[in-house]
Amino acid sequence: MTAKLGVNIDHVATLRQARRTKYPDPVAAAVLAEMAGVDNITCHLREDRRHIQDRDVRLLRDIVQTELNLEMAATQEMLRFALDLKPDTVTLVPERREELTTEGGLNLTQQKDSFGKSVALLREAGILVSLFVDPETDAIKLAHRFGAQAIEIHTGRYANAVRAVDRKNEVARIIEAVQFAAKLKLGVHAGHGLNSSNIQAVAAIREIESFQIGHSIVAQAVLIGFDRAVREMKQLILLAS
Ligand code: PXP
Repeated sequence: MTAKLGVNIDHVATLRQARRTKYPDPVAAAVLAEMAGVDNITCHLREDRRHIQDRDVRLLRDIVQTELNLEMAATQEMLRFALDLKPDTVTLVPERREELTTEGGLNLTQQKDSFGKSVALLREAGILVSLFVDPETDAIKLAHRFGAQAIEIHTGRYANAVRAVDRKNEVARIIEAVQFAAKLKLGVHAGHGLNSSNIQAVAAIREIESFQIGHSIVAQAVLIGFDRAVREMKQLILLAS
């Protein structure tokens, strides 16, 4: 089975929010991603609304034709939002205001009761629930116990490893974790920090059903599109002068 690709469009919104303009619209990016063959559209509605806004998620719910995966913290506010919006999937992630990006998997040993309740509430509404966890069997066991149907393995440590030996060790940790999750019949996703230089080793892991990739795709899009964007502006000036 070929692994699927979900594109996280948060950083299209980061560019927009930097100037509070109407462009670039992450909703337009979602349409283009679907036309290019993506398997799901992912966005993270953060408490501080630093990139994706409520309006984006509501429009995405209407226009996404593949699947909409909403990443969010398990707070009361976000649970209410998700139960009302009904994305296809909710991926619960840890969230801290001061972090640049999601820095690790969920700590499922804290607030055990509330995780179980959050998963149950979302599942009752027909939403598939995935928990973002580090590649550790204990965390995967807890995700399974809380009733999640899937996990997403945090690949950040692998992506950030500099030495070949550390990368190798991280790949081994990921393999052990995903095989364990697959035995528990959990859906297995993976993501964070993946780019064109490091995707190969993890894409070769059979048990991983889908990859969630954001920052590197948006970064590559900026460069691939730069030549055309400059030419278009040059042309406009030429035509007007
Ligand atoms: N998966 C999860 C749960 C995330 O929080 C993120 C970052 O928002 C990603 C995947 C995508 O990570 P990146 O932007 O580094 O590709």
